[in-house]
Amino acid sequence: MKDAYTVLGIETSCDETALALVRVHQDGNSEVIGEKLSSQIALHQAYGGVVPELASRQHIEALPILFQQLQARFPDDVNQCSCIGVTQGPGLKGCLLMGINFAKGLSLSLGKPLIGVNHIEGHLYSAFLNKPLPRFPFLALIVSGGHTELVYVEQFGAYQIIARTIDDAAGEAFDKSAHLLGFPYPGGRALSDAAASVESSPHQLPKVMREADGFSFSGLKTAIHLLIKKCPPKTPQDTAALCYTIEHAIVDALIYKVKKSLSSYPGCRALSVVGGVSANRLLRTRMEALAREHAMELHMPEPQFATDNASMIALAAAYRLQQSRALLENQQESRGLPVLPRYPIETIS
Ligand code: KG4
Ligand code: ZN
Repeated sequence: MKDAYTVLGIETSCDETALALVRVHQDGNSEVIGEKLSSQIALHQAYGGVVPELASRQHIEALPILFQQLQARFPDDVNQCSCIGVTQGPGLKGCLLMGINFAKGLSLSLGKPLIGVNHIEGHLYSAFLNKPLPRFPFLALIVSGGHTELVYVEQFGAYQIIARTIDDAAGEAFDKSAHLLGFPYPGGRALSDAAASVESSPHQLPKVMREADGFSFSGLKTAIHLLIKKCPPKTPQDTAALCYTIEHAIVDALIYKVKKSLSSYPGCRALSVVGGVSANRLLRTRMEALAREHAMELHMPEPQFATDNASMIALAAAYRLQQSRALLENQQESRGLPVLPRYPIETIS
């Protein structure tokens, strides 16, 4: 029987400032006690993308306010938590620094050790928030604004990259296409909502990256650009038809790679899809069909945990604690945690 832990999670790797309290019970079931999140999307919309300097400043303003709100609502859980889990990377350096420095201050004032969490590993476990512990091994498709990775999750902390993007991430492919069609940043969801208003489209896009080992969206991006130039939308229906074609092309490319990798991992009885793009309905439906076809379990985060949040960071830290209680022992040392703007998931030690 493992120990139960409550962890205070902090996430500031990009444009969401988030704090959360998560408890992992002895049986491995997790429970989100409370969350506070401040999104910067409106701030960055005027620029068509995240402005790192503005994002950092916004984090440092929002962090103390969100923390006070969380502490006022859950004083006992904050005071009695086992540790603070904070995103160490990957992400924007200035943004990560704001989160880590705030966490170091809290660590001193509350007398709690710090655990650095890999943001991608956080996404990986977002599918298990308010649920039982995952059963290993499983194959995970991580699709966000900054990352596209297909990972073989052998055990907690043991990750093997099957494929990762060599250029744009899936979320970027959605967002850049949405931008070309006049949707405000980030645009992925708006593009998907527009696509859902039609049932077919006269347009076609090439099937991309079938042979390549990794994911690549640059060829598709060029094809989308040319398609929009050739068929500029004149009505909302025209725009919706283009969105339909674009969404199907991006999702097809993702599904193709997942499907192709299944034969190499016959022992895997479960699939998961996580990250902001996992909120996409078409991707969810196609992953459900794939899992059914191969008699596999499918794990997906509840929609509010698909995009960046602190609960997933707290959960990854709590699982880490269940692996090694020793992490609680040296508070002083834990406060030396560096930021790791580039932090591939397979390098977690
Ligand atoms: O995981 P996330 O919040 O941030 C990163 O770590 O990057 O992912 C954000 C990405 C954005 O690109 C956004 O457009 C995309 O997730 N996204 C979607 C949908 N909801 C969010 N893309 C397609 N369809 C959606 N429904
Ligand atoms: Zn993310």
